[in-house]
Amino acid sequence: MQIMADQLASLIDASKLPSHIAVIMDGNGRWAKQNGQPRIFGHHNGVKAVREVTEACAELGVPWLTLYAFSTENWKRPAMEVSGLMGLLVETVKNEMLTLLKNDIRLHTIGDISKLPNSTRLALEDAIQQTANNKRMTLTLALNYSARWEILDAVNKLVKTHAHQTVSESDFTEAMSGAGIPDPELLIRTSGEKRISNFLLWQCAYTELYFTETLWPDFRKQHLYEAILNFQQRERRFGKISEQLI
Ligand code: FPP
Repeated sequence: MQIMADQLASLIDASKLPSHIAVIMDGNGRWAKQNGQPRIFGHHNGVKAVREVTEACAELGVPWLTLYAFSTENWKRPAMEVSGLMGLLVETVKNEMLTLLKNDIRLHTIGDISKLPNSTRLALEDAIQQTANNKRMTLTLALNYSARWEILDAVNKLVKTHAHQTVSESDFTEAMSGAGIPDPELLIRTSGEKRISNFLLWQCAYTELYFTETLWPDFRKQHLYEAILNFQQRERRFGKISEQLI
């Protein structure tokens, strides 16, 4: 597995890395079921994949990584799963604090974290503050996030600040929860589902989409390298024709 991962990594063109990778981490529940365990067991094992992908992006030099960790719709899940996930976030943020600091990684969030349970919000705010000056990479967790919420939230802010004015694309992006984060160049979704599920709808206008059957708890560096290699083979035209890209 390690040799395979190293071989794949050596094929990556460092000059053509995506500057921002976004991930819909899906399949934790199915992974738990396959292992005869409750759903939360899948989320616990998903943390291993979070660690691997964060480490791999930092090693490669990908400066932005965004993970869809909890959507506004996820509140509809059984209460036990929701509280398990909130507890897992606190535990993970606390456990990974030293690693984030040592590796110069800034923790950031998008979404309305004011609505998270106090213990989760406080652990996140503490980690965000402690890592605020880190420069190597920004790890953004989308929490209590949905793209429609983010778009409407921006519209409602702009209605107050830009009454009777025309709103430009940059006014709009600056009003968004994810202001300052560049658009993702690569979006990965695990577990075989081929949907965007209300994630970064505005920002994904030109994003390359990559779907893999691998369930999130099984996702390792090797899988990330495969996604990046696939991305590097694509021609990104942004509305132009091939000949104009040379
Ligand atoms: C989707 O799988 C996964 C989630 C809703 C939560 C993701 C959370 C983690 C990986 C753990 C904590 C994360 C961090 C960043 C510390 P699913 O439950 O929808 O799986 P299913 O589709 O198989 O049911």
